[in-house]
Amino acid sequence: MDNEIVQPKAFPNNLLQKDWTKRKLSEQCGQGFVDKVHDMLVRDDDVWIVTLPKCGTTWIQELLWLVLYDFDFEAARSEHLEVRTPFLEFEYMIHNDLDHALDQIEALKSPRLIKSHMPLALLPQQLWIKKPKLIYVYRNPKDYIVSRYYHSRSLGFCKDTNLQEFALECIEEESTVPSEDFEHVTEFYELRKEPWIFYTSFERMKLNLRQVIEDICKFLNKEINEEQMQKMLHHLSFEEMKKNPKVNHRWEFEQMRAKFKSEYENNNFVRRGKAGGYKDELSADIIAKLDDMIQRNLDYYGLSLNELLLLDGEVAL
Ligand code: A3P
Repeated sequence: MDNEIVQPKAFPNNLLQKDWTKRKLSEQCGQGFVDKVHDMLVRDDDVWIVTLPKCGTTWIQELLWLVLYDFDFEAARSEHLEVRTPFLEFEYMIHNDLDHALDQIEALKSPRLIKSHMPLALLPQQLWIKKPKLIYVYRNPKDYIVSRYYHSRSLGFCKDTNLQEFALECIEEESTVPSEDFEHVTEFYELRKEPWIFYTSFERMKLNLRQVIEDICKFLNKEINEEQMQKMLHHLSFEEMKKNPKVNHRWEFEQMRAKFKSEYENNNFVRRGKAGGYKDELSADIIAKLDDMIQRNLDYYGLSLNELLLLDGEVAL
């Protein structure tokens, strides 16, 4: 089932005019799950959060949940984030039980906040018709690759691989241009001006979290007063999130570690939280190779990394 090539039942042709036949979609969940997600019922008041792994999903998820649920910090502190706002692919990944793969999500009261890493073409077909609110977050690939390495080790993978080797493997996997990751982000980037889409980046959140909170409140038609804003900035700060057990994916980790049964490294999920942290973690040689891989993809789309991150050179990438 690993990296099987799957075929969506239908393509979102009403969103992006492109030659979908040239699109290869490998997806660890497999065709059965992809078909089930394709047919899933979407509610008008759903809010979706879609990202590539390790781009700041958890950070924006907690932010969004609090905005949606009227800044109920007490409720946020008393239940795991992934129970309040489930990860679409998780249940199937753990139990491989197609019949019950979406039970947790279907049982959720409205408004649901649903997280997924699936690419646009594999998301539920009703999303392309109902167009509920959807938030997409991107991040500098060099930082998310480093973050993915520590995450993998937290799950007991990459025991005999160091970070530099892991980055080389990522470059190898992403060697086709356009790469799957770049397809993922550019499809949402192209849709960023749609009224139902909010596109942002980890780097924008680092630069001005207040602005992102304000923009998201506007996007979701929610009011926020200064007292609530101050509480949000405190609750969502790196230091607070790092020590908050409810946002460090302990519920999910427990199940994944039980499933994989391998020795794991206990990295905190909210780990370092830096923009540009790769600079003191990756060797100059690996950074040059990553830059080359990234540039080939950007050239393909005629975009710059700053454009994809919605930056005007405020951050040294
Ligand atoms: P690092 O591993 O670079 O520290 P995701 O939720 O998509 O898996 O992303 C995880 C990344 O977001 C981790 O990056 C994590 O530390 C970072 N992150 C989570 N909460 C954060 C916060 N409040 N401030 C800054 N970074 C945060």
